[in-house]
Amino acid sequence: MSPISTSRNYSIATIPADGIGPEVISAGVCVLEKLSSLSGTFSLSFHSYDWSSETYKKTGAYIPHDGLDKLKQHDAILFGAVGAPDVPDHISLWGLRLSICQPLQQYANVRPTKIFRGTSSPLRNVSPGDLDWVIIRENSEGEYAGQGGRSHRGQLWETATEVAVFTRHAIERIMRFAFETAKKRGRGKGGKGKLTVVTKSNAQRNGMVLWDEVAVEVGKEFPGVEVDKMLVDAMTCRMVLDPKSIDTIVATNLHADILSDLAASLAGSIGIAPTSNLDPTRANPSMFEPIHGSAFDITGKGVANPVATFWTAAEMLTWLGEEEGAARLMEAVENVTESGVCTRDLGGKAGTKEVTEAVCSELEKLFADKEQAWLA
Ligand SMILES: NC(=O)c1ccc[n+]([C@@H]2O[C@H](COP(=O)([O-])OP(=O)(O)OC[C@H]3O[C@@H](n4cnc5c(N)ncnc54)[C@H](O)[C@@H]3O)[C@@H](O)[C@H]2O)c1
Repeated sequence: MSPISTSRNYSIATIPADGIGPEVISAGVCVLEKLSSLSGTFSLSFHSYDWSSETYKKTGAYIPHDGLDKLKQHDAILFGAVGAPDVPDHISLWGLRLSICQPLQQYANVRPTKIFRGTSSPLRNVSPGDLDWVIIRENSEGEYAGQGGRSHRGQLWETATEVAVFTRHAIERIMRFAFETAKKRGRGKGGKGKLTVVTKSNAQRNGMVLWDEVAVEVGKEFPGVEVDKMLVDAMTCRMVLDPKSIDTIVATNLHADILSDLAASLAGSIGIAPTSNLDPTRANPSMFEPIHGSAFDITGKGVANPVATFWTAAEMLTWLGEEEGAARLMEAVENVTESGVCTRDLGGKAGTKEVTEAVCSELEKLFADKEQAWLA
């Protein structure tokens, strides 16, 4: 089934999963329902799947045998977070999240970051507009290819390998996606796009050198896009010291995973940043999730920041073709942060519920203003 529906009714699979996942996903569903009812131009139907670490502990599996077939029947997937204190992280991540992304070929992981109005960066002299990036993460192989093994367990000579896999096919497709993203954003010289290719090709002399070579080859298809190349360690310094010099970044599965947590924190909090796991061919539904994890330390306290899930929901709507609804949702969220209604990770005092209610009220106001303008 194609993720784009012509009737503008969208079927969304939700997988709240663990920790604060259920709290932020129910907040996300709440604002999406409010938005679709106010807009009247599209509708969403949600189907929730209770695949979580609790399910794993009860049944021995995160996803039932026909789970992926069920997901394929939806237009998009809205995911919370997976991870529980009593399940090893490699079991939970591979059991749920990677078991969806990899078989559904969601090879492009897209992670935008910006400073919202009314919030501040921990960096000095950096204001909204100075930090506005998108990180493109290769999402199907690399350091998370699942290749490797352990032998001689418990012996002094115990051995483990974690083999990073880089194929020309996967590098080419993510590089092309990154160049297209940079071009569409239109920053850099002459507004034709700006892309930074991040590798570690001084120390990792095979896979990372292939990345650099493919970047040069694919770059020839995008002559206007300004390209530069950074080693990942130096990139962390540039992100902190010269954020204005960056626009679109492309990096491997591991490097971009780390850089995007840094990016979110530099923009104010990991509680605001979204992720899209896209199958750009649209053969499979894409999956949308906040960047953050299940946050055991704040689970059940009602203080989780729902903004990352709201931005995630907006990215999902954009992917489904509902750009206007997505823009309205982001406007409402930023009006709310600007008004000072924020959770404590952003320096505020509000809880998840208050922020969600404030965004719903702001949506009502925006739609009422639009109606008035139309009548006038
Ligand atoms: N995509 C995923 O499902 C995903 C991603 C990262 C981590 N995890 C898992 O989550 C668990 C906890 O991992 P972690 O502690 O490294 O990362 P985490 O993102 O869960 O938490 C890191 C810190 O950020 C805070 N935080 C996170 N989200 C927040 C929000 N919305 N509002 C306010 N504060 C927020 C937490 O309270 C914590 O102090 C582990 O099991 C890990 O494997 C899952």
